[in-house]
Amino acid sequence: MLFILQADYIFLLNDLLMSIRKEKFGQLKNGETVYQFILKNKNGLMAKVISYGGTLTELWTPDRKGKRINIVLGYQKLENYLKHSPYFGATVGRYANRIAKGRFKLSGKTYRLATNNSPNHLHGGPRGLALQNWQTEIIKTSEGAALALTCFSPDGAEGFPGNLTTTVTYCLTDKNELKIKYHAVTDQTTVVNFTHHSYFNLSGKESVLDHLLAIKSDRITSTDKTLIPTGNYLHVHNTPFDFRKLAPLGARIFEPHLQLKNAGGYDHNWVLSGWNNRLRSVAVLYDSESGRKIKVATTEPGLQIYTGNFLAGTPTEKKGVKLKNYQAVCLETQHFPDSPNQSHFPSTVLEAGEEFRSETVYGFEVG
Ligand code: GLA
Repeated sequence: MLFILQADYIFLLNDLLMSIRKEKFGQLKNGETVYQFILKNKNGLMAKVISYGGTLTELWTPDRKGKRINIVLGYQKLENYLKHSPYFGATVGRYANRIAKGRFKLSGKTYRLATNNSPNHLHGGPRGLALQNWQTEIIKTSEGAALALTCFSPDGAEGFPGNLTTTVTYCLTDKNELKIKYHAVTDQTTVVNFTHHSYFNLSGKESVLDHLLAIKSDRITSTDKTLIPTGNYLHVHNTPFDFRKLAPLGARIFEPHLQLKNAGGYDHNWVLSGWNNRLRSVAVLYDSESGRKIKVATTEPGLQIYTGNFLAGTPTEKKGVKLKNYQAVCLETQHFPDSPNQSHFPSTVLEAGEEFRSETVYGFEVG
């Protein structure tokens, strides 16, 4: 009896320490409610996720002195996500990143997608998963409560073949990690590529160019001026793309390198070393002043580093205040851009009946 009482008590206590709370965030024009979920772990880390776009809207982590700030760009109001958001915190799919000219061939058939990043397709199109209101469920996992969001995308949506059901799960663990798991199934051969599009800023300052970055990678997929991979790899040795050791994002970003000129900064896919479909640590982002650090682990083969080169002019919720370029950085784990047209890249094809699974973990530390 005593044991049962004790067990109940621990369970209750755990529930108090690690929790997910649901509330209303807003309403879409079609009458659907957008919900917000507040995830807390036992150390006081807090994340907020909304059903619209499966979007992480806030993430509060401490600095060396224990001072917490929100380290991702986002909005408090739904209307701003609808009007202005450049994929802030969104779950991006069916295909994250670009597909050349919005065209690809699969099983002998040519598919045409929206070219919403002229002349290319970007991030699943203008009605992609990042712009859908997802179904939500709070679930129990071995690491505690998690939020599962599911989105059904019918055959032909945005030009992609197959009825696709995608589930993304967010768990804020007691080890101070945000674990994001993806699962997808289709009833026809299709292509998929999912990513998480948070814009991180670990200092709260107007630029992240003094943040240090390290990536376990010695190659990028070089791109043309529309940011489509040429098919060649560029070795990072002796280039501004060398982050094999911790280096400031801004140290070489303005060097006259053709790849940087094409993108206005970093907006490139690093080919991650040692890809074997298992979760492994791939990158670190660090702000030495506050001590905030993010460790990235993933099952994916690529990491798009985007330094917010097109952020300037994006409205914030402070009157008259607009964002600046390089005010945040995205760490987008993914398959390579344009894989459906590049047969030597890891495949993004998902067959009917197959289960797609991937996982990315952002771990928060102070150092
Ligand atoms: C991705 C792309 C960038 C940009 C942003 C959204 O990271 O690679 O070029 O389109 O999304 O603004």
